[in-house]
This record gives sequence, C-alpha cells and structure tokens, in this order.
Amino acid sequence: MLQQVNGQSSGSDAHGRESLREDLQAFLGGEAPLHQLDDLTKVNPVTLETVLRCLQARYTADTFYTRAGCTLVALNPFKPIPQLYSPEVMQEYHTAPQPQKLKPHIFTVGEQTYRNVKSLIEPVNQSIVVSGESGAGKTWTSRCLMKFYAVVAASPTSWESHKIAERIEQRILNSNPVMEAFGNACTLRNNNSSRFGKFIQLQLNRAQQMTGAAVQTYLLEKTRVACQASSERNFHIFYQICKGASADERLQWHLAEGAAFSWLPNPERTLEEDCFEVTREAMLHLGIDAPTQNNIFQALAGLLHLGNTRFADSGNEAQPCPLMDDAKCSVRTAASLLRLPEDPLLETLRIRTIRAGRRQQVFRKPCSRAECDTRRDCLAKLVYARLFDWLVSVINSSICADPDSWTTFIGSRGSPSRNPPSEKGREGPAQRAEPWVYCGTPGSSFPSSAPVSSPSTSVWARPAGRVRV
Ligand SMILES: Nc1ncnc2c1ncn2[C@@H]1O[C@H](COP(=O)(O)OP(=O)(O)OP(=O)(O)O)[C@@H](O)[C@H]1O
Ligand SMILES: [Mg+2]
Repeated sequence: MLQQVNGQSSGSDAHGRESLREDLQAFLGGEAPLHQLDDLTKVNPVTLETVLRCLQARYTADTFYTRAGCTLVALNPFKPIPQLYSPEVMQEYHTAPQPQKLKPHIFTVGEQTYRNVKSLIEPVNQSIVVSGESGAGKTWTSRCLMKFYAVVAASPTSWESHKIAERIEQRILNSNPVMEAFGNACTLRNNNSSRFGKFIQLQLNRAQQMTGAAVQTYLLEKTRVACQASSERNFHIFYQICKGASADERLQWHLAEGAAFSWLPNPERTLEEDCFEVTREAMLHLGIDAPTQNNIFQALAGLLHLGNTRFADSGNEAQPCPLMDDAKCSVRTAASLLRLPEDPLLETLRIRTIRAGRRQQVFRKPCSRAECDTRRDCLAKLVYARLFDWLVSVINSSICADPDSWTTFIGSRGSPSRNPPSEKGREGPAQRAEPWVYCGTPGSSFPSSAPVSSPSTSVWARPAGRVRV
C-alpha cells in the first residue's frame, strides 16, 4: 500500500509506483493476447486491474473459465452454451490422462476431485466450495457438477445394478427442481436466486460409483414468505400453484383465477421457473405421492390466505384487534386449508399469554395491531420452514444410501448470496454469518466500475478429511 507522509508520497513509494506502472504497461501491451492467459497466477503484476482485464479479455473471447492456482474462476456467460457441457466434453475430461492440461473447465475440478477420491490408497473425502455473488452461477455450477458425476460415477457392471444406479441418479437430479421451487425466488439480481445454502454430499462406494446422496440445507430466508422487497417475488412454488393448478385444484385450494394475495407480489411476471408440472413430476419421482403433494399445496394456499388476514386497531387495550371486513373470509379459508380450528387460530394471532408471579399465573393480553401482524407473519414463516425441512428430509430418505454401502463422498457447497445492505430487517442468508465453513464472496468486493461485465463464481476443491456431514 502506498504511504502518504505529510500529504506527500515518500520517495521509495513514488519509485515503486512508477515501476508498477511500467510493469503494468509491459504486461498489458505484451505480445501474448490477454485472453490466452488461462491461469491468473501467470498475471504479472497481480493487481485488480490486470486480473480484471485478463478476465474481461477472456469473456470477450467467449472463454468463461480461468484457473487461479487451485481455484477455478467461472464467469457467467448469460447465454446458453450447450456444447460446453455436452456428454462428449464430459467424457473428454473424464478420460484425459491429465485433465488439468485441458482448457480450464468446471469438469476439470469435477474430474480432479473424483480422481483424488479414487487414487489414494486410503480414500479421502473431497469437498468443492462454490462461491460468488448473487447471479454469478453457483447453482448452475453445482448442477453441472452433479450431472458430471451422474455420468462419470455411474458404470456398474451388471444390468440390475445399472438400473439401481440410474434410479438413484435420477432422484438426485430430481431433487434440484424441488429444492429450487421451494427455496428459490426471483430477486432484483437473479430470477432464480437460491434463498438458502446447501451442502450436497454424493456418496461413492469402494468402486467409486455413486450410490446415493444427502443434502443439508441451512439459512433459509423464511422472511420472504411474509415480506418481499419491491420488484422481488415470493418463493417460486407459490406462483407455480397459482398459475398451474387445475380447475378442480383451484376450487379445492381456494385459488380463484386472478385472486390477489398480498404475499404474492408481481404475479403478472411469467418466468421459466413457474413450471408447476416439473415440480410435481420431480416430487413424484422422489416418492412424494399425489395425495401428499395435494396436502402440501393446500397448506401453501392456506399461507397465502393467511397473508390476507389483516387487523384493525382495537381502540381498547382490553379488547382483541378486530379483523378488517375483507379479512374475515381470509382467516376462515386459511384455517380450513391449514386444517386448524378457526377460533384458536384467531386467538393465537391476537392474544398473548403471559405467565407471571411465583405461582406462574397465566394472563391473557390482547396484542396491538402491529403485534398481531408479527404473529401472523411468524406463524407463516414457521409453517414454511417446517415444510421445507420436511421436504429436505423426504429427499434425503429417497436419495441417501445405506451407510454400509458407501465409503467416501464428494461434497459440494454453494454459499448463499448476500442481499444488498439496504434490505433492512431481513433474516436468512442476508445477515447471518456462516460459522462453519469459510466461504469468500469475491463478487461482493468487485468495484461497481470494474471492467468485467459478468459476475464470477469461484470453485475450489479440497480434501474434506474424514468429516461426515
Ligand atoms: N455457465 C453458464 N452457462 C449458461 N448460463 C449460465 C451459466 N452460469 C449461470 N448462468 C445463468 O445465470 C443465471 C444465474 O445463475 P445462478 O442461478 O446459478 O446464480 P447463483 O450464483 O446461484 O445466484 P444466487 O446466489 O442468487 O442463487 C442462471 O439462471 C443462468 O441463466
Ligand atoms: Mg443459486
């Protein structure tokens, strides 16, 4: 860092700055085109400018992966490039004698990790950390890795075991649309933003074939159920049920066409992620049958009606807040869809129970209007979080292998992205620290004027020792 002495740079610093400028000019004006630098450790001098210029040159040349030592930097191309992820490319990286000599690619990380599990006499588990700002491509990258392992770690010899492996892989891949429908939402930065963190563990047997998987989730942004920033949306699943329900289901779930729900902002926007059929199909493959699905969607519709339950000021502290006229029907519908008796539900929302005194006497105190709103929101968040946890447990029971049938794992962890600091009062990924695995967010420290037009994801793999998650 340049030091200032009495407002002036010291002589040696000025000299250092001059030589840095010369190095910079030599590097940027050098003979080798910048886009050919496939490893950022070859950048010299290493400054923010040189690194970003190099990444920009590669982006312009449609080259989206760059090594940075053992880390891989992935730029979001913002366009589909199917030929980059084709089965042929997977095979190329899988069968290459030295995949690290091929062009940098997410499959290099995948293959190296796979070989690390495979080659050691004493197998060592591996973990891949996928990190980056919102919209950088973490979820995309995790999906690519899962597809890669579904191909390379599935070559059982017998037809029967091949069928079993295929079923497991299909279930593992099916867990994505379900988790994304319930855990992703459209934000200002990403139409399909993951509002939770996850660690996916792919379980391998002694022959390094995938025998199962386990998903661990954390920091679900449950506040989103009851509070969405302007121009953002609630979790995809709410829009899916409203847009994709059949006429019968609409009747059953009280979701009339065009009905307005205060927890369903911007319903007019149609996204690729609004596909209810894909979610249903994936749930079915994971073993969640049609009646259970019906119960889930009914409860979600109940939450939407709960969101329309609004209270008026009581005017008398001793009396509970009355319901607004148009909310009476909402609370009744919510209670019936959530299968709760209406009166106790209303009592829970409007009356606080306090225990006080030596004998723990019970007092019932009517809540203020603001407190009623908070209690309603808390109830919705709690129901949604429980439902999400239940789904994760069902997914796990459907994809997890018998503990005796696997010996090593490859884990992939996507870090939840940060919300802009202006979104006050939010919980979930936005404000919570991540105490148990270090995960940098390089994107967040990029200056907004940086010449790179695409957010980047970094991916790195490391031995996970014998940790079982
Ligand atoms: N390699 C890629 N090829 C094509 N499109 C991509 C690629 N990476 C990302 N994208 C596009 O960028 C979008 C955002 O990526 P993604 O959802 O993976 O971001 P994210 O890092 O998971 O963001 P968040 O933290 O908000 O969940 C994707 O929906 C996809 O359209
Ligand atoms: Mg994501």
